[in-house]
Amino acid sequence: MNVQGNADGKSRYHEVHARSLADPEGFWAEAAKEIDWIEPPTRIFDPSQGTYGRWFAGGVVNTCYNALDRHVERGRADQVALIHDSPLTNSVTKLTYAELLNEVQALAAVMQDFGVAKGDRVILYMPMVPEAVVAMLACARIGAVHSVVFGGFAAKELATRIDDAQPKLILSASCGIEPGRIVHYKPLLDEAIRLAGSKPKACIVLQRPQLTCEMTPSRDYDWAGLRRKALNDGKSAACVPVAATDPLYILYTSGTTGVPKGVVRDNGGHLVAVKWSMFNLYGVKPGEVWWCGSDIGWVVGHSYIVYGPLFHGATSIMYEGKPVGTPDAGAFWRVISEHKAVAFFTAPTAFRAIRKDDPEGKFIRQYDLSKFRTLFLAGERADPPTVEWAEQQLKVPVIDHWWQTETGWCIAGNPVGLGMLPVKHGSPTVPMPGYQVDIVDEAAKPVGTNIMGSIVIKLPMPPGCLPTLWNQDERFKEAYLSEFPGYYKTSDAGYKDEDGYVFVMGRTDDIINVAGHRLSTGGMEEILASHPDVAECAVLGVKDAIKGEVPCGFLVLKAGVKRPPAEIEKEIIALVRDKLGPVAAFKLAITVGRLPKTRSGKILRGTIKKIADGESWTMPATIEDPKALEEIGEALKGRV
Ligand code: COA
Ligand code: AMP
Repeated sequence: MNVQGNADGKSRYHEVHARSLADPEGFWAEAAKEIDWIEPPTRIFDPSQGTYGRWFAGGVVNTCYNALDRHVERGRADQVALIHDSPLTNSVTKLTYAELLNEVQALAAVMQDFGVAKGDRVILYMPMVPEAVVAMLACARIGAVHSVVFGGFAAKELATRIDDAQPKLILSASCGIEPGRIVHYKPLLDEAIRLAGSKPKACIVLQRPQLTCEMTPSRDYDWAGLRRKALNDGKSAACVPVAATDPLYILYTSGTTGVPKGVVRDNGGHLVAVKWSMFNLYGVKPGEVWWCGSDIGWVVGHSYIVYGPLFHGATSIMYEGKPVGTPDAGAFWRVISEHKAVAFFTAPTAFRAIRKDDPEGKFIRQYDLSKFRTLFLAGERADPPTVEWAEQQLKVPVIDHWWQTETGWCIAGNPVGLGMLPVKHGSPTVPMPGYQVDIVDEAAKPVGTNIMGSIVIKLPMPPGCLPTLWNQDERFKEAYLSEFPGYYKTSDAGYKDEDGYVFVMGRTDDIINVAGHRLSTGGMEEILASHPDVAECAVLGVKDAIKGEVPCGFLVLKAGVKRPPAEIEKEIIALVRDKLGPVAAFKLAITVGRLPKTRSGKILRGTIKKIADGESWTMPATIEDPKALEEIGEALKGRV
C-alpha cells in the first residue's frame, strides 16, 4: 500500500493510520524511500536500542544533503529555497538552492577550521536572519549538533544551555530587532559566557548594520570576514555521513523545574517523519511556496521554516516581523500575496492580535490571496472563536494541529494531503500515523469516549519524536515514561470523542502557554523566591485576550519588610525579565498577606486562577482558612 496521500478528494486517513499502527515497520520503511540514504537502515525499528527503541538503526545519512545537495543535483539549483522577508529591516532577500548550498558549504568549512567535528555541539543565539538557517544546515552538513537558543531568552537561560550542551563554538549576531527596540545580543552573549562554567572555544558574530558590537579579542570572529575569505579561497565542506540515530540537534524546552530539558532530535527519524508531513499533512507540493511564521528558536521553526520545506524541495519563507505593527495588521496577507504562499502556519495568538486591530478583515481584502489554500494553527489550543473568525475572513480551511517540542512534528492534525476530514472546532482532529493516542486515568487505564483524562502516546513513539533528553536518559524515563507504563506522557489533558477526534484542553503540569511560547511557572517561582524580600510566592497563568495566558505572580513578603510593596513588585518584574527574558511577558506581580492553602499546606492554585480569570469557583473543603481566598479576590481588584 502506498503510504503517501493522493488527495483525490476522499480521505485515505483511516486506512493509512490503521496501517501505520498494524505494521509500523512496513509503513515507515516505505516513507523512508523518500530520503536519500548513504547506507539504508538495517532495521526499521530496533526495540533493543535506546530508552524505548530506535528508528532506522544501521542507516547512514546526511540531513543537509537531503535538504540541499540532492535538489541542486536534480534540477532545483535555480529554484528559490529561502525567502527572507523582514519588514523590520525593510528588506526581502532570496536564496536559490544553489546559493544556499554554496553558503552552507563555506560556513561548514569555516566551522571545521575551528575544529568542529561530528558530534560536537554548536549553540546558535541568533535573530531571524538567513545566516541562522545557513548555520543550522552547516552544522547538519558536518555532523555537528546544533542547539538554537531563542533570542527572547536572557543571559542566564543561555548560560544554562551552554553548560548543558558544552558547545565548542557559539554563533551569534550583534543584535535582534523588535518593533521600536534593538535587542543588544552581544552583552547577553558575553554575560552568558561569563556565567557559564563551560567556555566555548570561539564565537562567530554576525555584525548587523542596525547595531554593530565590540568584539572580544581572541574569542570573537567576524562572520562576514570569515565567510568572504572562505568563499575567496574556494573552501567547501563535504557532507559528513552520520548514523540515522545520531543527534541532529538539541532544543531546550521548559521543564517542570527551572532547569530546561534538552530535547534530542535524531537525523533519520526526523528526516523521514518531517518529509512525510509536508505533503500528506500540509498538502504542499515540491516547488510550491510555504510559510511558517514561527521563530527558528522554537521547534516549529526548526521543522517547518528550515528542515521540512527544504527536505521537500519547496520554497520556505522566513519572516522577521510581527502579525501587527510591522507596519499593520495586513502584514501576513502582504507576505502571502507577494510571495504566493500556498499554505501558512502560525499560532492562534497572532490571529487574536490581528482580529483586535482589524476586526472586519479590511486588510485581508486588499491583497490577492488566490494562491493561498490552507491555514495551519498550533502552539496552543486554537480557541473556536478565533478559528471561526479566520475561516470567515480567509475562506480557506483553518486547521488546528497539536504537537510538542518533544515530538518534533504533529501528534494530531487534519491531513490535507491524505484528504481532509471534517473540521470540528476546538479539536486538532485525529492522531497522525504512528501515534496511538490514548486517554487514561491515574492507573494508566483507558477511559471512555468523551471522558477527560491524561493524554498519552503508546510506545514506541513514531520517527521524529525524541529518543531521549541530552545526556539524561534517566530524567527522560522519569519525566515521560514512568507514570504510565508503556506510554509516553504528553502532560496534556483532554478527551477523544466518538469519531476519534482528540480534544486537548490544557497541561497537567506547571507549564503555561504565553502567546504560543511554552514557559514553566515553577521556573518563574524560583526567580521570585530569589528576591531577598520575598518569603513565599506562587506564579500561575491567568487569561489574556491576545496571548491566551500571561503569568501572574503572587508574593508574600518577609516579616519586617518596610519598603512599599509596589517598589518590590517592580523589582520582581525586572528580575524575571533579567533572568528569564522578555519572552516571559511577566508584568503582573501582586503582593498579598498570605497564600490560600489546604490544611496540608498545598497552595490552592486552581482556585486562585479561577478567581483571577473571573470564573465561578467553589470553596475547597480542605481549605485552611477561607478568608485567604477573599483576600486574593481583593488583591486582584483592578490588577487583572
Ligand atoms: N528577541 C528578543 N526579544 C523578543 C523576541 C526575540 N526574538 N521575541 C519576542 N521578544 C520580546 C518582545 O519584544 C516582547 O518584549 P516587550 O516586553 O519589551 O514588549 C516580549 O518578548 C514578549 O514578546 P511576544 O510574546 O512576541 O509578544 P508581543 O507583545 O511582542 O507580540 C504577538 C504579541 C501575539 C504579536 C506575538 O506573540 C506573536 O506573534 N506570537 C506568535 C507566536 C509564535 O509564532 N509562536 C511559535 C509557536 S507556533
Ligand atoms: P511546545 O513544546 O512549545 O510546542 O508546546 C507544547 C504544548 O503546547 C503542548 O503540550 C500543548 O500544551 C500546547 N499545544 C501546542 N499545540 C496545541 C494545540 N493545537 N492544541 C492545544 N494545545 C497545544
